[in-house]
Amino acid sequence: MTLLDALREHLSLTGTKKGCDQGQCGACTCHVDGERVLSCLTLAAQVEGRQVTTIEGIAGEDGTLHAVQKAFLEQDAFQCGYCTPGQIMSAVACIREGHAGSDAEIREYMSGNLCRCGAYNSIVAAVREAAASVSKAASKAVKEKVEAA
Ligand code: FES
Ligand code: FES
Repeated sequence: MTLLDALREHLSLTGTKKGCDQGQCGACTCHVDGERVLSCLTLAAQVEGRQVTTIEGIAGEDGTLHAVQKAFLEQDAFQCGYCTPGQIMSAVACIREGHAGSDAEIREYMSGNLCRCGAYNSIVAAVREAAASVSKAASKAVKEKVEAA
């Protein structure tokens, strides 16, 4: 059984979407040990004992939205929303991987996530905005640490 089917059919975690079911659209993207994977191409057995994060687990425990979720809302980066969970999971990883330095880089590293509605410009804008806010938050945390030392 694939990780995608295990999530959706057995764990009722339906935020992860099934698009092509053959590794070509990115709708099923989730994270395993912090790295993005296509859950339709991953066997559930392969992730035994590993940390799986889906779109349901990306916000803070108190419900505070992740910077990428906020940016998608602010930039109106979706229409039908079907590709959105996969886009967000990829975007979180893309920023963490350090591949959100320019629009061209964002487009390249988000290219595995298709959007049939064509919301690409807003998606790139959202990733750019989230990357800037994550880096601002990181600099602030470093500054606070330095000041506290
Ligand atoms: S559903 Fe997995 S890549 Fe399309
Ligand atoms: S918002 Fe509809 S497929 Fe992307």
